[in-house]
Amino acid sequence: MEGQVTAAAAERVLCLLDDIPDGESKGFAAAPGGFTGLFAVRRGDRVWVYVNSCPHIGVPLDPVPDRFLDRKREHVVCSTHGARFRIEDGFCTTGPCYGESLEAVPHRVDDQRRVLVAQDAGL
Ligand code: FES
Repeated sequence: MEGQVTAAAAERVLCLLDDIPDGESKGFAAAPGGFTGLFAVRRGDRVWVYVNSCPHIGVPLDPVPDRFLDRKREHVVCSTHGARFRIEDGFCTTGPCYGESLEAVPHRVDDQRRVLVAQDAGL
């Protein structure tokens, strides 16, 4: 069907890379059958994907949809108690879960600029 994207059976399309504004973040609902969403951060053609669950107490990080970054867009921030995480690897640099990390989600960007994750990512 024209305009519709499909992925390999074991993958699902999270979004198009260009659906995430450059330098920004975007949240995604849980996969069918799951209840924990994902979020992605984009810088140019690079993207990082994490499970939307703070390692401190397991709540979602975003108070406002798609707002996962600090004002300078330098770190991921948890809204609940202010933990800060490196965008590049999800490592917590300050806050109550210092030394822990966000759960990174393996992904790839294909030649159609689709961001693909495993079908069960976040489950
Ligand atoms: S729940 Fe994220 S810092 Fe406490």
